[in-house]
Amino acid sequence: MNVLLIGPPGVGKGTQSKLICNEYNIKHISTGDILRKHIVDNTEIGKEISSYGIDSGNFISDSLMNKILYQMKIDNILDDSYLLDGYPRTLSQAEFYINNILDKDQKYLVLHLNTDNQYILNRISNRLTCINCGSIYNLQNDLPKICGKCDKCGSNLIKRSDDKINIFKERLEIYYSITFKVVEYFRSLDVLYEIDASNDINEIFNQIKKVIGEYYDLY
Ligand code: AP5
Ligand code: MG
Repeated sequence: MNVLLIGPPGVGKGTQSKLICNEYNIKHISTGDILRKHIVDNTEIGKEISSYGIDSGNFISDSLMNKILYQMKIDNILDDSYLLDGYPRTLSQAEFYINNILDKDQKYLVLHLNTDNQYILNRISNRLTCINCGSIYNLQNDLPKICGKCDKCGSNLIKRSDDKINIFKERLEIYYSITFKVVEYFRSLDVLYEIDASNDINEIFNQIKKVIGEYYDLY
């Protein structure tokens, strides 16, 4: 089963991805996490990624993003079931995914997580992220056991640099002007399922399990 998660920044894609991947034992592939790791590790690709300014909310180019995904396919990382969190984000990436990443007989479903901007803004303002493993916390509803330290690996928790309010607003604008077209595209292909992401984390996960449960055998 292949699942694609689409939704505005801060809606809870990473949070739900972890729950879904644990429940169905599938791989979590977060393009944001992959790009940030390349930058931290200072790889050749990381230097190229930095030049696009993802810290300021800008997307990297479609050609570089598609190249990274295609390399993962060649490396057999996309052979089994997986969940893509943050890809595709442009129409060109969506077409590349269908034509070059998916195998002919592979099925997929797309979950569109959506809610009002006021909830999203509040979630982002209170988010903490582990600098090492990317685990996600929240100062209002999901505190770590030890202040400032990750429960899973003990590393420091930070505020992501693109969570600054002005940059976050830009990310939202980019989402509605560019990525929302991907939502419409998958809707037209009849593979898109709407998830109301206004509720608490477990209620949203229950909605998702209903959709996946219904289609699990087909996908
Ligand atoms: P990426 O890392 O994917 O960022 P994003 O899409 O902006 O989304 P976020 O990770 O900020 O939010 P989320 O939806 O995962 O929310 P979370 O679960 O953390 O991408 C970063 C950048 O990389 C992009 O801006 C771009 O520059 C680049 N990039 C990535 N992919 C690319 C691509 N394909 N092409 C080009 N460039 C690309 O939750 C947020 C907070 O809310 C947390 O604190 C959480 O605990 C809390 N929370 C979650 N759910 C709830 C709830 N229901 N109620 C209350 N609190 C909640
Ligand atoms: Mg995320």
